[in-house]
Amino acid sequence: MLILAIDQGTTNTKALVFDLEGRILRSASASCRTDYPAPGWAEQSAAEIWATTRTVIAEATAGLTREIAAIGIANQRETLVVWDAGTSAPVGPAPIWQCRRTADACARLIEAGHPGEVAERTGLGINPLFPATKLAWVLENRPEAARLADAGRLRAGTVDAWLLWNFTGGAAFATDHSNASRTLLFDTGTLDWGPDLARLFGVPLDCLPRAMASDSLFGRTAEGATALPAGVPIHAMMGDSHAALFGHGVRGQGQVKATYGTGSSLMTLTQGRPRSLHGLSGTVGWTQGARTSHALEGNITVSAQAAAFAADLLGLPDAAALSALAESVQDSGGVVFVPALAGLGAPHWDDAARGLVTGLSLGSGRAHLARATLEAIAHQVADVFEAMEHDLGRRLDVLSADGGASGNGFLMQLQADLLGRPVRRPALAEIGALGVATMAAGALGETMAAPSDGAKTYRPGLSGDARATERDRWRAAIARATG
Ligand code: G3P
Repeated sequence: MLILAIDQGTTNTKALVFDLEGRILRSASASCRTDYPAPGWAEQSAAEIWATTRTVIAEATAGLTREIAAIGIANQRETLVVWDAGTSAPVGPAPIWQCRRTADACARLIEAGHPGEVAERTGLGINPLFPATKLAWVLENRPEAARLADAGRLRAGTVDAWLLWNFTGGAAFATDHSNASRTLLFDTGTLDWGPDLARLFGVPLDCLPRAMASDSLFGRTAEGATALPAGVPIHAMMGDSHAALFGHGVRGQGQVKATYGTGSSLMTLTQGRPRSLHGLSGTVGWTQGARTSHALEGNITVSAQAAAFAADLLGLPDAAALSALAESVQDSGGVVFVPALAGLGAPHWDDAARGLVTGLSLGSGRAHLARATLEAIAHQVADVFEAMEHDLGRRLDVLSADGGASGNGFLMQLQADLLGRPVRRPALAEIGALGVATMAAGALGETMAAPSDGAKTYRPGLSGDARATERDRWRAAIARATG
């Protein structure tokens, strides 16, 4: 039996064909462009997101003789797609999760005293990351959206809902609980949209998809929608970060993972709905059948993207070249780079924060800045990891790593050093895709084997004192970035 996993991330759309041994038989990837039309804004073309999905499916399945039994979708979360149900045409570009265009609207809601009630219901802080205020912005600023809403033709959802709509030729309009729990409109207690939340954010509920368990039969492929035949079931959908936790094999408490993507997300399962006192979010990990797993999450806005950004500034071809340069020095020489390039997410949550470099001296060189960039990725993860330990009131022993940048062994070693805990990286990099493929297989009553060989563990190599010095220097720089 074969399962097709779609991993629709911010930077790439991937299609991966898995067998039940958890092996990737075929894969294809296409890059997605992000536009930054104004400071703090970030948007993508929803049409391109779907076009790349079609392309990678055609490439990954060309000449395949065995049938695809089911499709699973893991997706970038919190990106808002709005479209016309009549034509399936998107209404303007999709503000992606990194977009801060609604920072002022969020500030007003915070000022008006709403964070407590909203966090109680959704697990989330009021922040432009989440789609609620983005939808209100679209309705206010794109007349076509308001017109379609009046005509009952407006559809709004996260990327999973948009892909499902297109896969099924408009027959299915649904999302899963994990994606819904990242919108600020979903009550994680009732597992349904909250009418009072919709009122608070000024958005209509009737344009939102049906929220379903993550292993639901969401719909079936329509004839001609993709290179796949008609009738293939879409049998799992999860936010990519959630899919990664599932892909690491986490089914209970005490394990934490970090996904090193454009941003980073750390997630751990909790007993019931968590309430963070240390700057993290409560979220739905996933719902399988009637069983919902809740989770604590910290979302870092700019993570591996910082490496690409710094490589560009330093005139290097890519992040790999940056890493090679970083390895050429023993330490950063006291240089600290805070990559608050789109504000700061968990656990600091400061939209006004902007990137800064501290500790430059006449002895500083490009290599120190390169190293400080990789250290910043690790420090941000350590900040969230520590916040998680405080919220849980317990020590977490190991960090499981995944995502593109986890392939960088030098970064993983820095992570273990600055965290003071071992970092375990599974052999399979595509752990989110594995997670959603595993969920889809389970929905068909099959078990997918977890690849067992080749995991690598990086052990902390810094003394406690040296680590404390590095962490203190980082915290001082963070205080200046947020000051
Ligand atoms: O919360 C945003 C996250 O889901 C984006 O993931 O893999 O595109 O960086 P990625």
